[in-house]
Formats: sequence, C-alpha cells, structure tokens
Amino acid sequence: MVWRFIFASILTVHAAVKSPSDSRCKNLNISLTQKIDNEGFHRELNWLLERSVNSFQCKLAIRLDVGQEMFINPDQIADLNRLGHLSVLIAGDVDVEAPAHVATEHTVYVFVPPFKEKVSLKVPFHLRYQRAQISGGFGKVVVNKPSVLAICPHSCGKIEVKAPCDLTNRVTCGWNNVSYQALFDEVELLVPVGDLDDYPLVSIVTLLLGCAGCIYTLSVLSTTPL
Ligand SMILES: *[C@@H]1O[C@H](CO)[C@@H](O)[C@H](O)[C@H]1NC(C)=O
Ligand SMILES: *[C@@H]1O[C@H](CO)[C@@H](O)[C@H](O)[C@H]1NC(C)=O
Repeated sequence: MVWRFIFASILTVHAAVKSPSDSRCKNLNISLTQKIDNEGFHRELNWLLERSVNSFQCKLAIRLDVGQEMFINPDQIADLNRLGHLSVLIAGDVDVEAPAHVATEHTVYVFVPPFKEKVSLKVPFHLRYQRAQISGGFGKVVVNKPSVLAICPHSCGKIEVKAPCDLTNRVTCGWNNVSYQALFDEVELLVPVGDLDDYPLVSIVTLLLGCAGCIYTLSVLSTTPL
C-alpha cells in the first residue's frame, strides 16, 4: 500500500516535470483532416489543418514521406509555388517516369501559411505503374501518415527533426515533431496492375499489325506510278 503510494507519487512528480514542455506543444491544438481526391493515377491530397490562435507564433510545416509507389511532380509543384497556391519543397530526386519497383522515395515539406486558423492545402500526386504480376489485378499504395513540424519561440520538447527552414532550402532548421489530432484513417489506394499472361499475346499482335502495315505501305508504293 505504502509502496504503491510512493510509486504513484514518483510517477506524478515525473509527469509534472515532463509536462511543461510537452503541454506547450499540446496547446497548439493542431488537427489535420486528410482526404484523397480524384481517381486513377492522378490524385490529390486534400488537407485541412486547423490550429488555435495561440499557435500563431509557431511556424508549421507538414512533412510527408512519399513512398516508391507514388510521386509528387516537381514541375507541377513549381507552378503551384510560383502562382502562390502552395509553398512546397521536395527533398530528394524524383524520376517521374520510373515504375514503382525501381523508383526512389522522396520527402515533401508543405509550409503552412501563417496566421490562419484553418488552412486548406491541396497537393497533387501521382501513382506509379507497378510491375506486372502473373494474375494482374491491383497493387496497393500506402499513403504515409504526415508529420506536423513546428518551430516555436519557446521550444516544446527536444528538437527531433532537421529539415529545411523554408522554400529556399538554403538553411537547415531544428523542428519539433508535434503531435496532432488526426481526423482521418490511414489510406491504402489500389492501382491496376498489368497481367503478365497478356504479354506474349500483346507482343505478337503488335508485331503482326506492324508487319501488315509495312506490307500494305510497300504494296501501295510499288503500285503507284512515280
Ligand atoms: C484545444 O483543444 C481542447 C480540446 O480539444 C479544448 O478544450 C481547448 O479549448 C482548445 N484550446 C484552444 C486554445 O483552442
Ligand atoms: C513524428 O512522430 C510520429 C509519432 O511519434 C512518428 O510516427 C513520425 O515518424 C515522426 N516524424 C518524423 C519526421 O520524425
């Protein structure tokens, strides 16, 4: 009984010591809603970030690790940045042509416009073609859960993430990986996958059509008087 009490007290003291820094970050009251719009290979991440006024002193960014099965198109992002619709930095090389199994991952930082309690951010992304399987069907694409990063005048906990300070990508800052209320479930998208069984047939038909085309062209040429 006594031991239990002492143990409980230690826990309470520990929590009290730990909380000042953590609670500041909780005060930011950040919540994020995520929807995936559009169908097929060209999709759009639709985020609604809500924050309380007392977080206005903090700079926020959403970080998304983009897996091999999808990509963010740098040209498209450059346009959106230029038009002032978004402020997005892509870290890592993006090969927009590569199929999923040879593609590399990249990370995007979406800098959140300041002094707004509600911000809607729409980030287009694309699914990569996946390697054909014996039976065709669908391949799975997992959209990673984004992290919300913050730089506040008062630090809230230890610096956890080194990431670019802003769009210019010249300086690296120490960001806090803050907790937020995720008002969405993890998403898994399906992408149609080619059927390996079809391949021989497709190649033969293509080849035959090519030959027929050649023969026809040659016959037309040879019968036309020059
Ligand atoms: C933060 O969220 C909590 C619970 O959702 C709420 O009770 C509190 O009033 C909010 N604080 C601010 C400053 O909005
Ligand atoms: C931030 O914290 C969450 C939850 O602990 C973790 O899943 C995520 O990987 C972290 N993000 C970064 C960029 O470290």
